[in-house]
Amino acid sequence: MNVLVVGSGGREHALAWKLKQSPSVKKLWCAPGNAGTDSVADNVPIKAHDLPALLKFARKESVDLTVVGPEQPLVEGIVDLFESEGLAIFGPSKAAARLEGSKVFAKEFMGRHRIPTAQFKTFRFDEYHAASDVIRSAALPIVIKADGLAAGKGVAVCSTLAEAAAALEECFVSKTFGDAGASVVIEECLEGVEASIFVLTDGDRFALLAPAQDHKRILDGDRGKNTGGMGAYAPAPCVTPVLHSRIVKEIVEPTLRGMKAEGYPFRGCLFVGLMLTADGPSVLEYNCRFGDPETQAVVPLIDGDAAELFLSVAQSRLRPNDVKLHHASAVSVVMASQGYPDAYETGKEILGLDAVNSDEGVVVFHAGTRRVGNSIVTSGGRVLGVTAIDYQHELKAAIETAYRTVSRITFDGAYYRSDIGKNAIPSRTNRSQT
Ligand code: AMP
Ligand code: GLY
Repeated sequence: MNVLVVGSGGREHALAWKLKQSPSVKKLWCAPGNAGTDSVADNVPIKAHDLPALLKFARKESVDLTVVGPEQPLVEGIVDLFESEGLAIFGPSKAAARLEGSKVFAKEFMGRHRIPTAQFKTFRFDEYHAASDVIRSAALPIVIKADGLAAGKGVAVCSTLAEAAAALEECFVSKTFGDAGASVVIEECLEGVEASIFVLTDGDRFALLAPAQDHKRILDGDRGKNTGGMGAYAPAPCVTPVLHSRIVKEIVEPTLRGMKAEGYPFRGCLFVGLMLTADGPSVLEYNCRFGDPETQAVVPLIDGDAAELFLSVAQSRLRPNDVKLHHASAVSVVMASQGYPDAYETGKEILGLDAVNSDEGVVVFHAGTRRVGNSIVTSGGRVLGVTAIDYQHELKAAIETAYRTVSRITFDGAYYRSDIGKNAIPSRTNRSQT
């Protein structure tokens, strides 16, 4: 089949890399892609949010399956558009993508279906004073979330009243997030360990991929600013078999049943961001797509033809028993530009990529890269996801391999965390996490 991947990050490189291995894939494109997707697919210079141009391309090239990486085109209705033209596409409809596109919708949905999540209240911008009153009387820390898509910047976990007041003001007064901040969710702060669950679902049937953990903070030891994600590993042992079945029963099943009952069954990859609290798993957020960087660790663990699998989801004929996972461990270490998540320079030449790509069990997924002549240069904050897969299921070995590979790749100002995945390794100082 002819397959189009939409997007340009590490997630899309990982998806394209996996799809390229499918015996059923004849032709593979990535729009717009990066210097890494270029090695497994043909890059097409169409932006991920240019829906009419993507549709035109898919029609012209007789694309049999489109796989959408980022949330924005999904929330804008790319799936409805393609399906109205009879084209198969992996992802939720616009109505179903509201689980990510509107945090107010998601929280109210969880309320309707008794899905465990932090206690919350929602406010519109004309309720600024009522929202301020709630903050003043609430226990700290408190979490303030802009309703809509805010490029990962719309969530503030506030430990002081001043921080909370500033977060509310950003949404309602300075309107930093535009319409996305016209409503907010104010919610209780949960404590625990975070985990990312990816559910492949055709609206009725579903299968879980390996549970993952993302490292969102910029500094070792989960300190410093929040980022898009500095690395991930899977499977995450914090999701024990007991928790796994609670997550299915208390969260995944009621979510999919609820979406269907309300008239917008969710098809595609439902990403549930969880806090594993002392009282059990609780939903922090839903995303309507694969996570980045978790995908770089989770998708290599799928055993089988990913194109056939994603097509069966798109065509509402998923057979959960056909979803097989390797009994292996994977870790992906992000190499970022100096300064990220704040301002950073781009255009730095990346050296050492040729030497590592042939190593066994290692694949370097590109996130922010661009080809210039014969060189590959940096073009974003997150530059590479250096991924290692250990087929003996030894996370420790995968981590060692990934970091050995990281040490061979250089570019001016390269920054990475040195502790990705290490909280899952039993050690004298770290037993509480395992
Ligand atoms: P979100 O975009 O909703 O996933 O939020 C981004 C990050 O903020 C999450 O990964 C958590 O680390 C944190 N977060 C969000 N909601 C809460 C909450 N209710 N309690 C504690 N941390 C939260
Ligand atoms: N890794 C978190 C996300 O993709 O939103």
